[in-house]
Amino acid sequence: MGTDWVWLIPLRDLDNDARAIQFGAIAGMSLLPGQDRFVGDPLRMALAGLAEASRRPYVVEAGGAAVGLLTLQAGAAGLAGWPDDQSAWLLRGFLIDRRHQGKGLGTLAAAAAVEAARKLTDRHQSCETGVVLSVNDENPAGLSAYRRAGFVDAGPYLGGPAGPQRTMFHSFAENLHP
Ligand SMILES: CC(C)(COP(=O)(O)OP(=O)(O)OC[C@H]1O[C@@H](n2cnc3c(N)ncnc32)[C@H](O)[C@@H]1OP(=O)(O)O)[C@@H](O)C(=O)NCCC(=O)NCCS
Repeated sequence: MGTDWVWLIPLRDLDNDARAIQFGAIAGMSLLPGQDRFVGDPLRMALAGLAEASRRPYVVEAGGAAVGLLTLQAGAAGLAGWPDDQSAWLLRGFLIDRRHQGKGLGTLAAAAAVEAARKLTDRHQSCETGVVLSVNDENPAGLSAYRRAGFVDAGPYLGGPAGPQRTMFHSFAENLHP
């Protein structure tokens, strides 16, 4: 793809025409076989992201193309095994389209999500100190992308239907991964 940067496009901030274009791109996103156990359907997740006020869905753009999707959610950190709901943003629904995986974009997007969350916290003067997520033990690509983006292992998490997971956290106090 020849890019070393990604942009996060906030679906919530787009007008209807711009949003429709992004939804067309999201509808065309797909995963590799077996990856659907780690994440939901892209279109459904984007729609759910807009339907619930606490969620902020973003399209990941690289090199002028929509390459992935992620959502930041406020007040829901406990869903990733965090001890409370409010002190961290939850990163969920994170995927890179199968045609764009393995090029470093997942790592860049995870780091960009932390930066976006930090800006939201600054703008709203809310109380989050970082971003938390849960990732399946059997998802090496996810584990590696998050680690390379600066997330640290915060322990095992046995909730959720998809088997043992790790809780991972990226504090706003740490320097962002380059
Ligand atoms: C997880 C995901 C977002 C990573 O995106 P990506 O763009 O492929 O990630 P990167 O290219 O930045 O690669 C990150 C690491 O994963 C590794 N990786 C990528 N695809 C892999 C695979 N199929 N198997 C094993 N490792 C893989 C890369 O080698 C890299 O590791 P390294 O830096 O140690 O070499 C992507 O694989 C994906 O969408 N998976 C399906 C949905 C999912 O699992 N989401 C996360 C839910 S918590």
